[in-house]
Parts: sequence; C-alpha cells; structure tokens
Amino acid sequence: ARVVVLVSGSGTNLQALLDAIAEERPDAFGAEIVAVGADRDGIAGLERAERAGLPTFVCRVRDHGTRDAWDRALAEAVAAYEPDLVVSAGFMKIVGKEFLARFGGRFVNTHPALLPSFPGAHGVRDALAYGVKVTGCTVHFVDDGVDTGPIIAQGVVEVREEDDESTLHERIKEVERRLLVDTVRRIARHGYRIEARKVILGHD
Ligand code: GRF
Repeated sequence: ARVVVLVSGSGTNLQALLDAIAEERPDAFGAEIVAVGADRDGIAGLERAERAGLPTFVCRVRDHGTRDAWDRALAEAVAAYEPDLVVSAGFMKIVGKEFLARFGGRFVNTHPALLPSFPGAHGVRDALAYGVKVTGCTVHFVDDGVDTGPIIAQGVVEVREEDDESTLHERIKEVERRLLVDTVRRIARHGYRIEARKVILGHD
C-alpha cells in the first residue's frame, strides 16, 4: 500500500512508521510511505521525512484565500502521490469536505486520548485536568467531525500522580507509536470493513 503521512510537529509517530517499514522491508510490512505533508514549515517531522529521502510538501492555510481553497489544495497535493491510505500523525488541522470526499474511508488519525473522551487539540491536558486514572490513545478513521470517526484501535495508559501534560503525553506516545504502526500494518496487509461504526480489521 502507498501511504502519505501528514504531520504538524515533532513527527515521532512518523518516525516510528519509517523505522518499522525500514526494519521489516516494505513488502513484508505491506506499505511504503511515499510522501510526507505538513501544514507548516520548519518542523522536525519534515526533517525526519527529508532524512529518509522522502518527498515532502507544505500546504499552509495562509497561502490560500479561503479554508476551502486550502482544503482543495491539500487534497490535490496528497492525490499527486496516489495513496491507498493517508495517515494523520499529529496533523493539527481539520480537513474539509473536498479532502474527505477524496480520502474519506482511507484516512486515519491518531489521537492521544481514549475517544470519545477528550477530543480536540488538547486531549492530554483535558484528561489530566479532569482527573482520570487511565487515559490512552486512539487510532480512528477521520470523518467530518473532530475526532469522531469510527474507532480502529485503542491503547490504555495509566495516569500517575506526579504527571504533568508533557510526562503524560510522552508516556501516551510510547503506546501510541506502537499502536499506529500495528494498525497501519494490519490495514495495509489485511484490509478492513466498517459495519455501523464498528471497524473489523482483516485477519490472516
Ligand atoms: C501525537 O500524540 C498525536 O496524537 C497528537 O500530537 C502528537 C504528535 O506527536 N495529535 P508527533 O508529532 O508524532 O511526535
């Protein structure tokens, strides 16, 4: 499968995918990352892609007159690589209807909380503030809501008394990177189907 990854930050989830595919070889893993896109310049995620010799692109909202024009430009930039699967790995923008029309159903996101709890841009901070004892991460299909698409996989992470947002987020990311790699590998190798919001991943 051809995969395009979208990032907005440090790109450690992208790095986990790159490392796993390099270690297992693309045909064993079942996927290759063909390009990495971002909504901003100057982020480590793009440096990681360049170090891996991958094509990159940046699609900034401010370079387009309207949000819809940005959404269309992002969809076209992604479509140029003819992906089978698009992975949002810390991509911090909400895509619009044009992007979803083209990639909905094969666009997954990883979120650092146990959806439907704590959706949105501050899931780790919100879970900590709420006082939950366990939180975690969720890989889900992206739909037209914010972190509301069908759930594919989740991982549980304990919250410790001494945690602050960054220590908790780092512990979540250790689980999240494995969950994302395993989920992308399974989708790439065995496909999936969705029945009334329930995602059934393919089996061997
Ligand atoms: C991840 O925890 C992701 O779930 C959240 O932002 C973080 C991105 O981390 N949206 P990285 O850029 O993959 O290191």
